[in-house]
Amino acid sequence: MADLDPARIPHHVAIIMDGNGRWAKQRGLPRIEGHRRGVETVRRTIETARELGIRYLTLYAFSVENWRRPEEEVGGLMNLLEYFLKRETSTLIKNKVRLLTIGRTADLPAGVRRRLEQTIEATAGFTEHTLVLALNYGSRTEVLDAVQAYSAAVAAGEVDPAKLTWEDFARHLYTRDLPDPDLIIRTSGETRVSNFLLLQAAYAEFVFLSLYWPDFSKDAFHQAIADYQGRQRRFGRTGDQLGQASPQPPPLPAGSAS
Ligand code: FPP
Repeated sequence: MADLDPARIPHHVAIIMDGNGRWAKQRGLPRIEGHRRGVETVRRTIETARELGIRYLTLYAFSVENWRRPEEEVGGLMNLLEYFLKRETSTLIKNKVRLLTIGRTADLPAGVRRRLEQTIEATAGFTEHTLVLALNYGSRTEVLDAVQAYSAAVAAGEVDPAKLTWEDFARHLYTRDLPDPDLIIRTSGETRVSNFLLLQAAYAEFVFLSLYWPDFSKDAFHQAIADYQGRQRRFGRTGDQLGQASPQPPPLPAGSAS
């Protein structure tokens, strides 16, 4: 297992879980079998994140574009999500992990919505670890929803658009209560961002892994963190100004659970 510096663990890791379909195809199995194995990897990854002291873990579980998949696969993914919430809520409570979502969750099937509401309510009091599921999420729809919310605030005379700052606008994003991700991991060998946290990733480090999501092990997670710790995050400054070889996440913003 990679040697990690406990003082430089990223606050927020976000993951594009890719490659379930290819994992299954390689084995002559139906795609849903890859997703099923993917759920096991989700459980393991939440556990590892907690062990490592990662405060926020965001998982890209279903994008706004994923509705374009065959109906059977979309239905299968929704069933798995419901199954995961039913089975894992007690573990999240035991481990004091708060659940949040980002995305247009109102469009998800009623059964999934109900489970989400129950788990979110049951874990709302926890502050140490947060699991964020990106569901029916897309950065562009997030921007549209934020612009609508901001415009409504302007129309109500609550805010002055002439004085708009990034912080004001960011308060209307789904991620208003979250720090920006420090590290974004994508599995499966693809090196795309796929409409995921485009604004929040402004200063994130990216790690692209060639293995498929069902094969994302504890060891691979540690390795990705080690890779992150070997980088210098400059946030627009020069390396000489910083004089440090490894990244320090910026302080958590006011309003995020500390
Ligand atoms: C990408 O693999 C994966 C998804 C679109 C869904 C991810 C869902 C899970 C891991 C299971 C349910 C989630 C939770 C949180 C319980 P792909 O199907 O695009 O793989 P491919 O690119 O190889 O076809």
